[in-house]
Amino acid sequence: MPANVLVGLQWGDEGKGKIIDVLTEKTDIVVRFQGGGNAGHTVEIEDEKYVLHLLPSGILREKTINVVGNGLVVDLIAMNEEIKGLEKRGIDVANRLMISNRAHLSFSYHKELDGLSEKRLGDNSIGTTKKGIGPTYSDKVNRCAIRVCDLLDEEAFWKKFKTKLDASNKILVAANLNVLDYEEEKKKITPALNRIKPFIADTVAFLNKAVKDGKSILFEGAQGMWLDVDFGTYPYVTSSNTTVGGACTGTGVPPQAIDSVVGIAKAYTTRVGEGPFMTELLDESGATLRKIGHEFGATTGRPRRCGWFDAVATKYSAILNGVDKLCIMKLDVLSNLSPLKICTAYKLDGKLIDEMPLNPVDLEKVEPVYEDMPGWTEDLTEVTTYKELPENAKKYIARLEELLEIEATIISVGPRRKQTFYKK
Ligand code: GDP
Ligand code: IMO
Ligand code: MG
Repeated sequence: MPANVLVGLQWGDEGKGKIIDVLTEKTDIVVRFQGGGNAGHTVEIEDEKYVLHLLPSGILREKTINVVGNGLVVDLIAMNEEIKGLEKRGIDVANRLMISNRAHLSFSYHKELDGLSEKRLGDNSIGTTKKGIGPTYSDKVNRCAIRVCDLLDEEAFWKKFKTKLDASNKILVAANLNVLDYEEEKKKITPALNRIKPFIADTVAFLNKAVKDGKSILFEGAQGMWLDVDFGTYPYVTSSNTTVGGACTGTGVPPQAIDSVVGIAKAYTTRVGEGPFMTELLDESGATLRKIGHEFGATTGRPRRCGWFDAVATKYSAILNGVDKLCIMKLDVLSNLSPLKICTAYKLDGKLIDEMPLNPVDLEKVEPVYEDMPGWTEDLTEVTTYKELPENAKKYIARLEELLEIEATIISVGPRRKQTFYKK
């Protein structure tokens, strides 16, 4: 396995953590390239369940180096807590982790500003994870952020931090909110800073050398294509490029180094937070998908909105990301639901369209055009080969392949490592 990028093709939570864990058995390096603590990537190993937010999902593998790329926004306190949590469970994080000196730092004031922005939006709120993601990326693009490399000169760092904190406090005061106290914040940040410092590295140089040396690298995407700030259901998106291009800008590795793109999609659709959801099921079937699929956010615990597979939007994701390997996840959840529906087109103002409209108002308005597929009643969670799948499950996969114009590579029928098989 040389250099593969793994991206979510829907609104996140497709099962990226699980597949990264499966694929990293023989991977030298896993590198996260965007997002921050908004991600929640679940890995289940036997009876142990781990949810990773800032640390790459290869961290549980003894021989894998895990890189937090320059494209991330890092909350030091949250990262320290995550490291401590894993260490308590016997994971030797210290020997497996590197953090880019170019990554950007996220602080409590970003979270406060995230909350304030959501409050001000009222009925139009995005439904963010309130992890401060938007405000931190705003600082980055506005060229006034604090970066990981700034931690290396502590005196200068605290000065910059105080300036930013004071500026944020002015906004909080104007909004009648409590201000953050510099000394208190400093007390909370200092132990985290000391813990994280040894991991700071020039990861761009490290990764490019690794490419040259032929190491196997997995670029771990967070969120999913429809949350991409350029290509998603804007403004109901996150603040980074979740699509394949982010793997280059978020790590400093050129596109020639990438050998293939693994796209990952659930056999149905979910979304956490606000915004249009073209195939959302607001009836009993949606509740059933949520219950059987345990569709509750891994970061915020919010119930995920559920709906049928949207082949129009997923095809767009596959094209934009240049997906050449497709993983179909959570096929087991569809047992006992019949007929199954696949959205193959939309109707907008009475006209049939087969592309995702740009405008959120149109996205809210589109009516999905469904094709019915016969379901199956067999439990799939013990299936270990493609051959063993019920005929109707094979037909369902074949129809998705046809609509997306990509052959499925991996099928997943449960959260565990062994509940995964290659189609061929
Ligand atoms: P990620 O953000 O893409 O890593 O996905 P999450 O971890 O947020 O959500 C996926 C959830 O589905 C997790 O609870 C996984 O343990 C679980 N999961 C992954 N693959 C499968 C599968 O094939 N079947 C079932 N039933 N659960 C799965
Ligand atoms: P993983 O990596 C699902 C959603 C939020 C909200 C929008 C913006 O686990 O797939 P943000 O906090 O990023 O500013 O919120 O994006 N969101 C996710 N939804 N999975 C995620 O990550 C998400 N990260 C952010 O719910 O709608
Ligand atoms: Mg998740």
